[in-house]
Amino acid sequence: MKSTQEFVTEAFQEMAPEYEKKVDGELRRFWGINYGEFVDSLMKHFTPNPDDFVLDVATGTCVIPRSIIKKYQSPPRIVGLDLTRGMLKFGIVNLNSQSIHHLPALVNANAMQMPFSSNSFTWLICGLATHHMNPPIMLAEMHRVLQNSGNLLLADVGGADSWSNPIIKWIIGLFTMVYFSIVESFSRAKAELSALPNIYTIEQWKNQLQKAGFSEIEITTMNSRFFWIPKPLIIQAKKIVEGRNDIDA
Ligand SMILES: C[S@@+](CC[C@H](N)C(=O)[O-])C[C@H]1O[C@@H](n2cnc3c(N)ncnc32)[C@H](O)[C@@H]1O
Repeated sequence: MKSTQEFVTEAFQEMAPEYEKKVDGELRRFWGINYGEFVDSLMKHFTPNPDDFVLDVATGTCVIPRSIIKKYQSPPRIVGLDLTRGMLKFGIVNLNSQSIHHLPALVNANAMQMPFSSNSFTWLICGLATHHMNPPIMLAEMHRVLQNSGNLLLADVGGADSWSNPIIKWIIGLFTMVYFSIVESFSRAKAELSALPNIYTIEQWKNQLQKAGFSEIEITTMNSRFFWIPKPLIIQAKKIVEGRNDIDA
């Protein structure tokens, strides 16, 4: 039996060559915005200094690092991490095709077990990927690799309270399996189906972020196209370790 992560990497390995076009289509269909507008909305909350050290978790084809490098004359140092080698490969192709010289360092690894020392980064960003990971484990790792006073910036689909209703949960599961099997692939359908329990409401996110040690939590919603489609969330938080400055916690 394949693991969830095997379905995830298989799905994104297949999608990689067309990923940006496909995700643009999905965001237009479900949220009524295009991919560029989504990244711009996220980047409005990103306020780096040139000496910052940024980690883009589940960077995929490096759309977020690209938008940072293009936006800032002296962009901060950036590391992009992703589980799927094929996505990173197309990330490099896209970076080179846009003659971007200030290249991010790319790491093929699991965000729930990151190969970085504690307290490494001042900013940690993650777009459209938290639902593919186990939030408590993911947040604990994100907290570990952030420096004290470090910034967390996440954006992904948010859940609705009604989803805890078993009948609604079953209908959403069925819709997910049928929709992604038809428009995408069986592995994508399996990856999105196994992601459903990781899609949190605002209250659930606040709760999990606090448990992971984050503070100054701010969660805003973006619009979606239909009332029954859950709204995307933009989540900001800080790692504040009392009585400590940027030293090992
Ligand atoms: C929908 S894409 C998002 C890519 C990019 N962040 C964006 O904003 O378009 C999801 C990405 O998450 C990656 N991913 C899923 N689970 C992961 C994990 N446990 N660790 C690292 N990356 C993961 C996948 O390989 C895929 O590239």
